[in-house]
Amino acid sequence: MSADRAMDASGFADLVRRRRSVRAFLDRDVSRAQIEAILDIARHAPSGGNMQPWQVHVLGRRTIGDLRDAIFATVTERGHEEAGDYRYYPVEPLAPYTDRIRQAGHDLYAALGIGRRDVAARRAQKLKNFDFFGAPAGLLVTIDARLERGSWIDIGLFLNALSLAIVSEGLSCCLQASFSSHGDAVRKVLGLESDALVVCGVAIGHADESHPVNRQPLRRQTVAEFARFHP
Ligand SMILES: Cc1cc2nc3c(=O)[nH]c(=O)nc-3n(C[C@H](O)[C@H](O)[C@H](O)COP(=O)(O)O)c2cc1C
Repeated sequence: MSADRAMDASGFADLVRRRRSVRAFLDRDVSRAQIEAILDIARHAPSGGNMQPWQVHVLGRRTIGDLRDAIFATVTERGHEEAGDYRYYPVEPLAPYTDRIRQAGHDLYAALGIGRRDVAARRAQKLKNFDFFGAPAGLLVTIDARLERGSWIDIGLFLNALSLAIVSEGLSCCLQASFSSHGDAVRKVLGLESDALVVCGVAIGHADESHPVNRQPLRRQTVAEFARFHP
């Protein structure tokens, strides 16, 4: 490998390692030019048959406020939708996955000093999702409901490219499947067709590095734990 290529590889590894979910942002704007630059990188993501099934909606502060109000109103009225536009998590406990979900929740609330029984504080923290955690910009990625499961892989690849592009621009993000529980509110506020399924939101902004919520342990399996080599 040439020296230049090796340098690129370590730059890439660094980018992947630096990305983490950020859930508190500084009150500092992100320009439209920055968002366009990020999307211009992410659009290079591959997709089966080059279908490029992603649709992206870019929300500024005013629309974020409108959407937050609409979602808060439905949560107050009906609570979170059970299934929403799709199910993300197993319905029944399934080891080891549900244990990991529980651990992630524990890490989040521990970082914030929120106790196990403090239902009100947990609920308030969960609701922050719908304000994009105070980020100045948010994306909502939708998919045509008529597409097959394979296209959801493509959306995942797109979201990964997008997350890394955001970090490469000196910004931070949090992917937010939580918006999929409120597809009707999203479609209403953004004026989308009924077959636009909400896959994921993305909060984008400048990380508030001093906020405890942004200092959580990285928990990942080792390669030996998740990979099997078949000679
Ligand atoms: C597709 C996807 C959807 C997610 N949705 C949410 C969400 O709705 N709210 C949230 O706070 N975190 C969400 N996360 C963040 C995960 O909790 C986080 O990626 C995981 O705990 C690992 O932490 P890290 O991103 O800091 O490495 C989501 C992550 C992914 C990949």
